[in-house]
Amino acid sequence: MANEIKKLHLVYFSPSGSTEKIVKTVASEIKGLEIETHDLLTSASREKKYTFGKNDLVIFGCMTAGKLFTLSDEIFECLEADGTPFIGVATFGNTYYGIALTEMLKRAENSGFKVAALGAFVARHSIDPAFAAERPDAKDVEIMKDFARRAYKKILSGDLTLHTLPKTNWSAWEMGNKVIAYREEHPDEAYALPPSYKTKEMSDACIKCGTCAKHCPVNAINIAKKTFDLDKCIGCWACINRCPVHAIKSTSKEMADIMKSITGSAQKRLEPELFL
Ligand SMILES: Cc1cc2nc3c(=O)[nH]c(=O)nc-3n(C[C@H](O)[C@H](O)[C@H](O)COP(=O)(O)O)c2cc1C
Ligand code: SF4
Ligand code: SF4
Repeated sequence: MANEIKKLHLVYFSPSGSTEKIVKTVASEIKGLEIETHDLLTSASREKKYTFGKNDLVIFGCMTAGKLFTLSDEIFECLEADGTPFIGVATFGNTYYGIALTEMLKRAENSGFKVAALGAFVARHSIDPAFAAERPDAKDVEIMKDFARRAYKKILSGDLTLHTLPKTNWSAWEMGNKVIAYREEHPDEAYALPPSYKTKEMSDACIKCGTCAKHCPVNAINIAKKTFDLDKCIGCWACINRCPVHAIKSTSKEMADIMKSITGSAQKRLEPELFL
């Protein structure tokens, strides 16, 4: 039986902004619907409940780190659906998305969605912009739009079954594969970076505009004192990437070493992967 969709909801967790752009690019191919956006970056936004019905369509996007990023439990707890069609988007920095789509499928179904389409898309790496610097590019955008057209057509026809299930996405990076194997064995373990990977400093270039604190998902920044609460910080890189004067820098040697070790394997261009 054909489906009637009345409203399109864009729901995303996008610390550095790429996921938001990709969700909006996918949405741009779905014409003629009223659109409501739900940006779940701030803690205040995640204190609310968002409910969706059968005539809504949700496009959901989340950044990944071999699995859905920190706070994805909290994010899905805010979402209550009643057989609502769901198009899911995972973004990754040309290294791997690991179990992120499998995890998204499970969580979306648990929240009452009917997952009709899933896609993993490459975006500029938020830790090191030299990785996938120009992504998404024109080729990616064409794939996103085609994905949106196919997913919407399928949903309108009343077909809300995911005919191809997502698989674990392995990496060309040897150490990355150890991380992915661990994630596969512990699918319910939340992603968390140790404090030594999150150390950063705020320089005197700071103009106290408030942007970093406003976008910090866990209120970990004290601008007056130029300090970061590393127990709260989830290492999302929003503050570093959103500061208009680049006053915040990572000081973690461990993170710099990891990025160096990926450099070789991350040269190969990875393509988006779609499951419908
Ligand atoms: C802490 C952290 C870990 C990440 N881990 C991975 C990873 O394992 N594989 C990968 O391809 N990209 C990884 N990325 C890159 C992001 O997934 C990618 O840049 C994403 O598109 C960022 O989305 P945003 O701009 O919406 O924040 C990581 C980024 C951060 C900040
Ligand atoms: S975003 Fe940058 S300039 Fe603005 S308050 Fe934060 S550190 Fe200072
Ligand atoms: S302090 Fe940590 S959690 Fe807050 S924006 Fe910066 S990296 Fe993200």
